[in-house]
Amino acid sequence: MSAQLDNQAISILKENDLGGYTIPTKGLYPYQWNWDSAFVALGFATFNMERAWEEIELLFEGQWDDGMVPHIIFRKDDPSYFPGPSVWGTTNPKIPTSGHSQPPVAATVVRRLFEQDTSEAGKEKIKTLFPKLLAWHRWYHTYRDPEGHGVIAIMHPWESGRDNLPDWDNAASHVDISDIGEYTRKDTSHVNPEMRPKKIDYDRYLAIVKFGRDNNWDPKIVADQCPFFVADPGNTFILLRADRDLLAMAEALGETDAAEELKGWIALTEKGVAKLWNEEKQAFCTYDLRNDVLGDGISSASFLAPYAGIREEKYINPTREHFDRIAAKVNYTMPSYDPDHPLFESMRYWRGPVWGIINYLIATGFADMGDTARAERLRTDTVALIEKSDFAEYFDPITGEGAGGNSFSWTSAIWLTWATPSLTAKAA
Ligand code: GLC
Repeated sequence: MSAQLDNQAISILKENDLGGYTIPTKGLYPYQWNWDSAFVALGFATFNMERAWEEIELLFEGQWDDGMVPHIIFRKDDPSYFPGPSVWGTTNPKIPTSGHSQPPVAATVVRRLFEQDTSEAGKEKIKTLFPKLLAWHRWYHTYRDPEGHGVIAIMHPWESGRDNLPDWDNAASHVDISDIGEYTRKDTSHVNPEMRPKKIDYDRYLAIVKFGRDNNWDPKIVADQCPFFVADPGNTFILLRADRDLLAMAEALGETDAAEELKGWIALTEKGVAKLWNEEKQAFCTYDLRNDVLGDGISSASFLAPYAGIREEKYINPTREHFDRIAAKVNYTMPSYDPDHPLFESMRYWRGPVWGIINYLIATGFADMGDTARAERLRTDTVALIEKSDFAEYFDPITGEGAGGNSFSWTSAIWLTWATPSLTAKAA
């Protein structure tokens, strides 16, 4: 079973490869997505290192002059997707792209490639990529944490990569949607509308895109005035981890100034995460910086503190308790939203379903802390989901049913790099 799934995962990556970059899935997502490509590179690295580097290099072809690496790169216009390049109206880049970013997992991935690929060519690649990664991290710390709180904000729910999380609802309800005009969605023609965001959510998404477009995606104006500006535990923890990984690379390359800059960001964020700690819930939650409201939802990102290298018991013990409470409630960990919360929906986008890539990140953090039992629960649940429902985009945490797009690239990549039992067999 496992060898057959290994082969299937490799075939999916090859089929979704459009020549140096990989689309998440055919139909629903026909372009290059930022964090998808980072995970995909890990998948390629299990059988084709050259191709793994290429995925990251092509992602950085879309980098803006200010350092931002966009969430979508539109290499060619595809009318089956909405909102396409004309809706974003970006002018900065050489290639048409969207106007905001996505979770910065790339540096963490590049560090793994760097450690795996000891060839001269690998060293050259890292030297070229390092300043680009640093510029992107600097952009995040400058424009998504303009007041230096040590937490990273998103200007659009899509920037979190967890698009439709219930935690964005309140903050997004302040966004004026009166001026968005008519539009036709395409996502609901590819998959069941019951599993996709509702119209009101989409209206708000487009109103924020309009704000960005009207302001030429100027990150300073976004930081000062964007109607949606919410600190996200997901992007905060992912960037903190990525800063540490970039620091390790800076030290290996003898980049001393960069290392100092990175240490500064790490120290700031280590303190800053306290702003996201909800004392009553005993969990890391969102913080709406525009309206000064601490969220009360526990999401899969609340479990990324170990991944970020946070070790204080006052945070980690309750995080473990929430993990166990939720793990006892569902058949498959980790639902994207707390099943005890009234807004939990087991099959609707980011309001309940399980994503393999998030399981991988959470498990990496637990494993780093020596918490093998919880890390293994996440891995074996991911194996069971894929065995039951193939390489779906996401899965129901109760029934294990797959949903969203099929033959999904990052689910395949995560299988190859982490979940597959072949790896455990090899290690034994
Ligand atoms: C959805 C997800 C996002 C992902 C993209 C492509 O928009 O929410 O995280 O990057 O699909 O897979």
